[in-house]
Amino acid sequence: MVAPTELNAWKTLAEHKPAIESTTLRALFQQDNGRHDKFSLEAAGLHVDFSRHRATRETFEHLIDLAREAGVDGGIKAMFDGTPINNTEQRPALHVALRNRSDRAIKVDGKDVMPTVRKTLKRMRTFTDAVHKGEFKGYTGKPLRTIVNIGIGGSFLGPKVVSDALRPYWREGYDLRYVANIDGTDITSACRDLDPETTLFVVCSKSFGTLETLKNAEAARAWFFEQGGKQKDVQHHFVAVSTNIKAATEFGIAEDNIYPLWDWVGGRYSLWSAIGLPQAIVLGMDVFEQLLDGAHAMDEHFRTTELGNNLPVIMGLLGIWYQNFWGAESKAVLVYDESLRDFPAHLQQMDMESNGKRVTRDGEPVTWQTGAVIWGGTGTNGQHAYHQLLHQGTRLIPADFIMPLQSHNPVADHHAWLFANFLGQQQAMLEGKTEQEVTAELMTQGMSEAEAQKLAPHKVIPGNQPHTAITFDLLTPEVLGALIALYEHKVYVQGHIWGINSFDQWGVELGKVLGNAVYEVLHEGNLKAYDDSTANLIRRYRNSL
Ligand code: F6P
Repeated sequence: MVAPTELNAWKTLAEHKPAIESTTLRALFQQDNGRHDKFSLEAAGLHVDFSRHRATRETFEHLIDLAREAGVDGGIKAMFDGTPINNTEQRPALHVALRNRSDRAIKVDGKDVMPTVRKTLKRMRTFTDAVHKGEFKGYTGKPLRTIVNIGIGGSFLGPKVVSDALRPYWREGYDLRYVANIDGTDITSACRDLDPETTLFVVCSKSFGTLETLKNAEAARAWFFEQGGKQKDVQHHFVAVSTNIKAATEFGIAEDNIYPLWDWVGGRYSLWSAIGLPQAIVLGMDVFEQLLDGAHAMDEHFRTTELGNNLPVIMGLLGIWYQNFWGAESKAVLVYDESLRDFPAHLQQMDMESNGKRVTRDGEPVTWQTGAVIWGGTGTNGQHAYHQLLHQGTRLIPADFIMPLQSHNPVADHHAWLFANFLGQQQAMLEGKTEQEVTAELMTQGMSEAEAQKLAPHKVIPGNQPHTAITFDLLTPEVLGALIALYEHKVYVQGHIWGINSFDQWGVELGKVLGNAVYEVLHEGNLKAYDDSTANLIRRYRNSL
C-alpha cells in the first residue's frame, strides 16, 4: 500500500497547517459569520456542527482530497460488499448486515447472509414475546422478570449503553443487571437480592471461550443451584448467544436456548445482533428494531453520500487532522446526557481496540500515529473535574460534545441549565479569555491594576480548543442507533486512511493467554521463568492465602 504520508493531500495538509496555526477559532468566527451553516451537517436525526474546528473551507477541501486519494469510497464499498476487510482473519466486517432493513442482499462467500440475520431477529422476537407473556417461565412457573447479562467487552459495553440510554422505553416490571468482570464483587453485587425463580441469565460470548464470562456463568449457575435450582431447571434460566454452539451446549445450555452470532461480526460491533437479546427483552423487540432502523439510516448515509457531505468521513478526517498534523494524543467525548454515561467507555473499546494498531494491513510498521486515546464522561460533572485541564492545560484535546435538545426526564429548568452549560463550555473552548479581558474584569470588580495584572495570567483561558457539537431532538432508539453507527463508521474511515486493519485485536488476545500462564503457577510451582518483580508479587499473593 502507499503510506498515507506519501499521498499528495497529506503533503498539502502539512504545508497548509501553518496558515491555520497563525489564526485562532475566535478570529475565524470573526472573519466569517456563516461558519455554522457552512460547516454543519444533518443525517439520520443527528445535527453535527463542526464549525468550531481549526479549519477553513480550504482545510476541509484538502481533508476530503485525502479521503479521496486514500480510496475511502472504495473502502466503504468493500465493507458493504462483504469483502474480507479483516484481512488477518480473512473475514468481512458486516455489522451493517445486522441492521440492514432494506431488501439489499449482503453476501459472504457468495451467499446472502440476510435470511439468517432475519431468521435470528424473528427468533429473538418469538423468545422475547414468550418471556413477556410468561410462556417462557422460571422453573417454579413464575414469569422471568430480572435479566442478568453475563458478558464482557463488546458483549457488555455497547449493550449497556443501549439499555441505559433507552431506559424510558423499558417495559414495566423488568430489571436488567450486568456481570462482566472476573472480580467476584461484580457477580456478588448482581446476585444480591436476586430471586432465582424469576431470574434469567443470558450468557453473551461470541467465542464462548472468554475466561471472565465462563467463570461468571459458572458462578451464576452455582448460585442458582445453591438457591434450590436443579440441573434440569437450568434450561429455564440460562440462555446463550454465541458463534460457538458446541461450547455453549457443553456448558449445559439447551440448544434451543442458544442464539447464533457469526464470525463476520466483531465483538465490539455486535450489540445489533442477538448479543442484544437481554436489551431486547427489557425494551421489547419493536424498540430494539427501531434501534436497528436508526443505525441503518446512518449506514445508508455513509454508503451513499459523497465524501464531502459524509458525516463519518468528516469526523474521521478531523480526527486525523489533529492526531497526525497537530500532535493531539487523545480525544474527549463529553456527553451532556446522564443516560449516555457509559458511551465514552463503549467508544473506548470500539475505537482503541479497532485502531490501536502499529502495523499496516501488509504487516509493515507504521511511521504515523494511529488510534487516539479516547476518554470522557458526562457533563456537567466533568466541568467540576477534568475540564480544568481542557481549559488551561498544556495539551491539545479535541472534544465531541453530545446532547439531546429535549429531555426524557424534564425537572424544573434542569434541562435548560444543562444546555446552557453545554454551550457555555464550548464557548469557553472556542473563545477563551484574554489577559486583557481578565485584567479589565478584575479591575471592574475593584482590584487595583497591579493586583489584577498579577492574578490575570492564572485566569487566562487560551481557548482555541477544537470541538464538535452533536445534537438531536430526543434520545430515541433511532437516534441512539444512528449515533453509535456514526462512531463505528468514523473508526473505519480512520483505519482505512491509516492503512490498518480495524477489525482484529491481537494485542488483547495476548493478554488472555498471559493471564492463563500466571494462573498456573499462582498457588505452586517454580517461579524461575518469571522476572523478579512478578515472582515476588506471586510470593506475596501465596503468603496472603
Ligand atoms: O477483549 C477482547 C474481546 O475479544 C473483545 O473484542 C470482545 O468484545 C470481548 O473480548 C468478549 O469476547 P466474547 O464475546 O467472545 O466473550
